[in-house]
Amino acid sequence: MLPVWNTLLKQAETRPQISELFDQNSTRVRDFSAEACGLYFDYSKTAITSETLNGLLALAVNVPAARKAMFAGEKINTTEGRAVLHTALRAPDNAVIMSDGADVMPELRATRARMQTFANDIRTGRIKGQGGPITDVVNIGIGGSDLGPAMASAALAPFHDGPRTHFVSNVDGAHIADTLKTLDATTTLVLVASKTFTTIETMTNAETARAWMAKTVTDTGAQFAAISTSEEKAAAMGIASERVFGFEDWVGGRYSVWGPIGLSLMLAIGPDNFDAFLAGAAELDEHFQTAKPAQNLPILLALVGLWNQKACGYASRAVLPYDQRLEKLPAYLQQLEMESNGKPVAKDGSPLPLGSGPVVWGTPGTNGQHAYFQLLHQGTEIVPAEFLVAMRGHEPDLTHHHALLVANCLAQSQALMLGRSLDDAREIAAKLGFEGAELEAQAAQRTFAGNRPSTTLAYEQLTPAMLGKIIALYEHRVFVEGVILGINSFDQFGVELGKEKATALLPVLEGASDGGLDSSTATLAARFRKVNKA
Ligand code: F6P
Repeated sequence: MLPVWNTLLKQAETRPQISELFDQNSTRVRDFSAEACGLYFDYSKTAITSETLNGLLALAVNVPAARKAMFAGEKINTTEGRAVLHTALRAPDNAVIMSDGADVMPELRATRARMQTFANDIRTGRIKGQGGPITDVVNIGIGGSDLGPAMASAALAPFHDGPRTHFVSNVDGAHIADTLKTLDATTTLVLVASKTFTTIETMTNAETARAWMAKTVTDTGAQFAAISTSEEKAAAMGIASERVFGFEDWVGGRYSVWGPIGLSLMLAIGPDNFDAFLAGAAELDEHFQTAKPAQNLPILLALVGLWNQKACGYASRAVLPYDQRLEKLPAYLQQLEMESNGKPVAKDGSPLPLGSGPVVWGTPGTNGQHAYFQLLHQGTEIVPAEFLVAMRGHEPDLTHHHALLVANCLAQSQALMLGRSLDDAREIAAKLGFEGAELEAQAAQRTFAGNRPSTTLAYEQLTPAMLGKIIALYEHRVFVEGVILGINSFDQFGVELGKEKATALLPVLEGASDGGLDSSTATLAARFRKVNKA
């Protein structure tokens, strides 16, 4: 690790109270905020000082070269020998992006044009289902083949003017059963979305959807489409080649919403809004490549996160969108952050000097306030909070709701920082009529230590372009974190072991011998067999 890390650790040990930093510096918010692409990032409510910021910026010394390598199509995903070029999916039309000696853009443009034609044909009713124009689209996929379009589809609800979208991911039969029972098969389009087209959950759900549709639809193939890097495997499922939308293996699953995996979103919001979503992300890409580190939003987000997690020792981060339609953003970011940087070793196989990236979790505000915010304010585990908030909603008749929402967001970050002193709590307890030892006990419960860090990402309104910017910002933040921690953020070997074990256990649940299993697993399997008489 760079020597500056030891300096940062020392600074963290003696870090001042956040509120004191405001008392000492009247321009603190100006000094510890940055704005670009319509995104305002305020990280002043953290314990970062100018010295700390300089040290953190020094940590990012390798970022420019790594960033250049990624955008240039070098094979930075070393374990899988692949380039990382999801940024090409949203690059401007005139871009030339080379990988393996060839420009990848002509094929990407051709695929996007096919998607647009297909989306327009469905949306205008030129392509119909057996029962008439398509009213509903079911995207069957999981992980990156689900979370991106599901999150974006919910986020951009005000822009929906196409068929309704539904997302089935879980192999739990409840998910597909509950979804399909509300639909008319004769006007439903099913998209089977899987980069590999081997994922057991998706293949199982796709077969179930096909059987459901076959009960009422004669030509089910006409109401199915596939999205995959393997056109042959999609063809083997009986999906005609003109209904297969392919993409390259240098698009990671969790980075794939910008291409064919986003087809359900394009169907819902239309090609023009989808283009705006891509253009927003491209604007952020440009910012990431050209802005100076001290004003570079992805770099700043990454550095603040590393400071909180690695220097201050706060193991998790709460993502708190005060924007209901970003309800699925925390789940999306869990995959982006934890599948990318939840690794134990560096690219050369050596243990990571600082360990892996953070645990990320969260739900929209204000709901969380009435659930786990108790711990955020008074628990002994400190969880840095990351607020996201739109200055304007999409409901012109409900501006009072929006003002209340924003007031709550600002109040939470303020309360986390300032807390409430014991003296103030005593005053409250006295007013409530408590005295003596009872007053002291009551006051202790009502004291808030404060000094809990938070950041706020504010933007005007959640539009397709703004969503594109926000997602690209987080993608690049994860990249920067990975570079500094020494991680290959683009493979995911950690998901394999569980898949292998599940494949081996299925026959045991269906009656095969459980010889050799640990007693806990064997007992649970036996309970399953007993209930199901296997
Ligand atoms: O199991 C993890 C994972 O491989 C993710 O990385 C991926 O997004 C998801 O499964 C789905 O994979 P696929 O798109 O190949 O079905």
